[in-house]
Amino acid sequence: MDQKRIGIIGAMEEEVARLKERMTDSKTESRAGMEFIRGTLCGRDAVVVRSGIGKVNAAVCAQILCDVYQVDLIINTGIAGSLNAEIEIGDIVISTETLQHDMDATGFGYEPGIIPRMDTSVFPADLRLAALAAEACAKANPDIRVFSGRIVSGDQFISDKNKKERLAKQFQGLCVEMEGGAIAQAAYLNQVPYLVLRAISDKADDSASMSYETFEAMAIRHTIRLMTELLPML
Ligand code: ADE
Repeated sequence: MDQKRIGIIGAMEEEVARLKERMTDSKTESRAGMEFIRGTLCGRDAVVVRSGIGKVNAAVCAQILCDVYQVDLIINTGIAGSLNAEIEIGDIVISTETLQHDMDATGFGYEPGIIPRMDTSVFPADLRLAALAAEACAKANPDIRVFSGRIVSGDQFISDKNKKERLAKQFQGLCVEMEGGAIAQAAYLNQVPYLVLRAISDKADDSASMSYETFEAMAIRHTIRLMTELLPML
């Protein structure tokens, strides 16, 4: 059977550990200091990898998935800080698009977030996949709310109320994290569809570091349940 190969990236080990454990017939290869585990996950041909934190790690990882593993699709799973008062800790956000909030060429007259000399700076996610993920989430996490919209990324852990408000106002993101936008840009350059799935671990304000520690594990459980429901649907 001609099956799609799915690349799955989590920035931190905790975000992918449960997926790695579920893989069968797996083979591990190391590249750029990252372990790529190829095998069968929930009946799908998959490559699961911990990229490390931040946009550069994430982009390098996505490029390897495209070049070496020739994936047909990339899913980025993990946790994020909420930028929207409606979105609570534990809720899930599914990307419809991503943008990098720390891209700043305003000195050249560009708007914040705009990448000079590229035809877009807002990378559309695979909307068919986003709809399937929302459906899977409703089944896997019936007590949790699911939001779909823009996710913003940057090489910054946001833990300041004023910064959070500025990001929310300037970029209209639902949540903030540190990899999705870079994976999206790499996927776009390689013409590979992608999706970012994040569970909220904190409110990206002055309480962020504390609540991140408390709620990280719970938020990750929600994404793992979602992923294991979603994969057989693909
Ligand atoms: N990932 C989880 N919470 C975050 C935050 N507040 N800022 C950036 N990335 C995050």
